[in-house]
Amino acid sequence: MFADQKGFIMAILTIPETKVTIDNFSDIQSFLKSRGIWHDQWKANEVLAETASQEEILAAYAHDLKPFMAKGGYKAADVINVNSQTPNLEAVRTKFLAEHTHTEDEIRFFVDGEGIFWFHVNGEVFSVTCHAGDLLSVPANTTHWFDLGPKANVKAIRVFIDPAGWVANYTGSGIDKKYNPAY
Ligand SMILES: [Fe+2]
Repeated sequence: MFADQKGFIMAILTIPETKVTIDNFSDIQSFLKSRGIWHDQWKANEVLAETASQEEILAAYAHDLKPFMAKGGYKAADVINVNSQTPNLEAVRTKFLAEHTHTEDEIRFFVDGEGIFWFHVNGEVFSVTCHAGDLLSVPANTTHWFDLGPKANVKAIRVFIDPAGWVANYTGSGIDKKYNPAY
């Protein structure tokens, strides 16, 4: 893990085919932007307790979250929490490990823990390991999957236009199996 001067643990981008790793924020942002994916980093306006409620978490990031939602036309935000205590953890893990798309944008802001987004864009496969402070916005219809990683511990803000429409449409390509480790 790498921390910059502001104390962020930096995201890491990897391209397995070429064995390229990028751990510089602006280089990752440029790489993703050229492929239609938005990456940013936000900081809470106060130190959040481990037990912070959804409302407290949303309030701590409101200075970044509200303008982002207004600009993108997003209507709803909530906080998900997945950890070793989550019921049916293996089913939750498996659900997102297979390549899929959504008909609306998938937006995740990592409040705590980590998670690995995998993308399959124009024949290229790459992953972004996100930590606290990382925002990823995956445009609708982008083929991707999500790996909870070995720790299976993530707290994240989700942003939606319509939460009811947010379902995974599986491609069935099986390409994810080539990259996902066995847990
Ligand atoms: Fe997804």
